[in-house]
Amino acid sequence: MAVIGVFDSGSGGLSVLREIRKILPDERFVYFSDNAYCPYGEKTAEFVTGRSKAVTDLLLSKGASAVVVACNTATAAAIATLRADYGIPFVGMEPAVKPAASGTRNGVVGVLATAGTLKATKYQNTKSQYADAVRIVERVGRGFVELVESLDLDSPHAESVVRESLEPLIDAGADTIVLGCTHYPFLLPLMKRIAPADVRFIDPAPAVARRLVDVLQNAGIPLSDDAPCVELLSSGPSDTLKKLYSII
Ligand code: DGL
Repeated sequence: MAVIGVFDSGSGGLSVLREIRKILPDERFVYFSDNAYCPYGEKTAEFVTGRSKAVTDLLLSKGASAVVVACNTATAAAIATLRADYGIPFVGMEPAVKPAASGTRNGVVGVLATAGTLKATKYQNTKSQYADAVRIVERVGRGFVELVESLDLDSPHAESVVRESLEPLIDAGADTIVLGCTHYPFLLPLMKRIAPADVRFIDPAPAVARRLVDVLQNAGIPLSDDAPCVELLSSGPSDTLKKLYSII
């Protein structure tokens, strides 16, 4: 009986679980929110790697036969170590720079992500592949994770926090904006209200869900289960996790 583990620093990874469940509705999932240590975005790569290993150990103890690192920051810091240290498949997040670069109409791509993701070699390497073809402008979504974790998705305060990081990308001319942190899709309705109507936002989660299906098939992990369920676990309080899960 296959169990798929999914984790994030908090509830943001639910935006990935939502997409996974659209194409794998019959699987068993264990979702772990490491919210006692959230946010990961400003912490060192060593710290995030240590937490990613501790969470993976816990997911393995719950029977996980594959793990989705539903966190861009943890993917950038830790996925190579996880793949080297554990004998199960891992699927991580990729900032969607490639689809953004091919979809932009004016050649300006915005990337919103955490500080940890933007400075990581993984992102820098991806970016350098497209730097000749398009102009890439970046901003840390300062305070976005805290808004989502406090379920403040739509207040005047949330709007001013989101404007602060989003408007510089719009002012720089970005017509396509990559959501490079799994918390940010929960702020998408607000972002769409702030941005001009022709700005497109790209969430890599649907592509990650499709990749998971391929990875499970290649690893011979059986799809489809007769007892689909989602177990929600967290290292801190679970209120936000439960509330956000109820709306995905
Ligand atoms: N949701 C995470 C990501 O995709 C982590 C955000 C944070 O903890 O700073 O990067």
